[in-house]
Amino acid sequence: MRVGICGLGTVGSGSYNLITGNRDEIRRRVGRDISVAQVGCRRDHPDCDLTGVDVTRNVFDVASNPDVDIVLELIGGTTDALDLVLQAISHGKHVVTANKALIAEHGPEIFAAADDAGVQVCYEAAIAGGIPIVKAVREGLAANTIDWLAGIINGTSNYILTEMSQPGSNLGFEAVLKEAQALGYAEADPTFDVEGIDAAHKLTILSSIAFGVPLRFDAIYTEGISRITTRDIGYASELGYAVRHLGLTRRSAAGVELRVHPCLVSRQHMLAQVNGVMNAVMVGASAAGPTLYYGAGAGAGPTASSVVADVIDIVRRSGAGQVPNLGFQTQSLQDCPIVAMEDIVGSVYLRMVAADKPGVMARISSILSSHDISIEALIQKDARGGDAYVVIVTNDVLEKSVNSAMAELASLEEIRGDLVRIRIAAL
Ligand code: HSE
Repeated sequence: MRVGICGLGTVGSGSYNLITGNRDEIRRRVGRDISVAQVGCRRDHPDCDLTGVDVTRNVFDVASNPDVDIVLELIGGTTDALDLVLQAISHGKHVVTANKALIAEHGPEIFAAADDAGVQVCYEAAIAGGIPIVKAVREGLAANTIDWLAGIINGTSNYILTEMSQPGSNLGFEAVLKEAQALGYAEADPTFDVEGIDAAHKLTILSSIAFGVPLRFDAIYTEGISRITTRDIGYASELGYAVRHLGLTRRSAAGVELRVHPCLVSRQHMLAQVNGVMNAVMVGASAAGPTLYYGAGAGAGPTASSVVADVIDIVRRSGAGQVPNLGFQTQSLQDCPIVAMEDIVGSVYLRMVAADKPGVMARISSILSSHDISIEALIQKDARGGDAYVVIVTNDVLEKSVNSAMAELASLEEIRGDLVRIRIAAL
């Protein structure tokens, strides 16, 4: 299967690098090679080595190139992008797009053309970047009736609200927006993100795949974050709430709610813990109950992950056979050793009861250092009867060193009872 990439910005360059750089692993999954036949871009990208690749400065060449089976529409916008996608479809190409505006506003026309031509149009990357939310709703939850969906689906707005909520922050919307622009999180013209339009495009699509209703971007209620003040964030916080920009869609007897706007969310709620540019979508489903999907909503790697997963789906559905039972072709499974527990490296929490007398702490540290274990934190608390609780957090250390050190510590007459070890998760 040969791919033609249209647009070599952040998402296009990420997709090119993922297809070419992860080629062997993808072949092990799909059972055949996926290659880039042509790239259409106005200019090269500094992160992409295009040596030996057919490059055209006219993206429409890609739509008609007989060497291309799947066109990746990564140019954005809704004018040239719509023409490009319709031309690609008319030439019998499958299409993968990351363009939420295109699908939300022109989905019916595009899908009808694709159905007539017998090709597929995939858009996982259009919503929440690297989170496979389309697949989760459309496939993973396919047995359910979906009741509602709530999501933080615009990273720029979430970054601004999170920064405005920092304790002691006096930075208002305009100041944080400038900071976000300087960091590259917000566009020079931020209107789409901060006025809720980007989130509205995404929620329009999510609502359709959740409830099986037509795409109704024309009917969505849209409000952004530009009128949120630090004063309101402060009052909300006193009342136990965080302010988040949410996309909300819910089905009831009255119809489908379809709205994006700022909300007060209880600080205990998981959506209130989603900070910075991260995205999260929560889905209320009849059998599964609520499930939550969290991850990066933008960026080269995360968005390319969704683009290339769509390419793989198309290849699998176009004759490369079913998804193998373990996700990889049976003949491509590669045996590899399982790392022995004693060779695992990580930091640990150690807790012991020690006699509270001079020199004991020195002996404990000397045993740890003789096993090459460095201490990151140490707490001593009084225990009853002249003993003390000693709690130690180590730096990263080999499990077998901790085993040996614990055996030696346990043999000290000043150490009472069992030593407790809890491994610290480095997530
Ligand atoms: N501009 C979007 C956001 C990322 O801020 O979340 C791409 O959809």
